[in-house]
Amino acid sequence: MDLFSLINLLMLLLSRKDNDVFLSFSHHDIGKNFGDHLYKDLNSAGIRTLRDDGGIYAGQKSDIKKAIRESRISVVVFSKGYASSTKCLDQLVHIMDSRNKTGLLVLPVFYNVDPSEVSEQKGLFEEAFAKHEKSFHKKMARVESWRAALKEAADLAGMVLQQDRYTSN
Ligand SMILES: *[C@@H]1O[C@H](CO)[C@@H](O)[C@H](O)[C@H]1NC(C)=O
Repeated sequence: MDLFSLINLLMLLLSRKDNDVFLSFSHHDIGKNFGDHLYKDLNSAGIRTLRDDGGIYAGQKSDIKKAIRESRISVVVFSKGYASSTKCLDQLVHIMDSRNKTGLLVLPVFYNVDPSEVSEQKGLFEEAFAKHEKSFHKKMARVESWRAALKEAADLAGMVLQQDRYTSN
């Protein structure tokens, strides 16, 4: 599967309603390339896509929750650095929660990571969690909710992309 098929799949799924896609990705990691390009491509294909851009939603946690709750689909881009961001992890917990509550469709995209790295928290994901466990040793329930959300999301059917640069077809 390539990005062109992702965009077509989303258009097919959204064709009946004027619904949104919530795009979750690590800005620090892929914000300047893959994340931004995908965001722009989806919007220019007519798919109303929302993301946490640190601008519109800065400091407004409830808006992010609302955006997630009101979306039809969430595309979650797992890159090497996704789990380093507690903001991304909190977002993912809301996404998986909405999946259960509102029937949000969750589509994981594995960008230069293997699904098992995400699901089982290996490699850089393991390193990120070693840090989180130190910083949040008094809030282990939160850390566990992140782990559970990663496993649950990574075990869903998604698409694996191995590429150096963004190409949309
Ligand atoms: C969603 O529902 C499944 C099945 O009941 C459960 O195992 C999972 O923990 C739930 N996820 C969240 C984030 O509530």
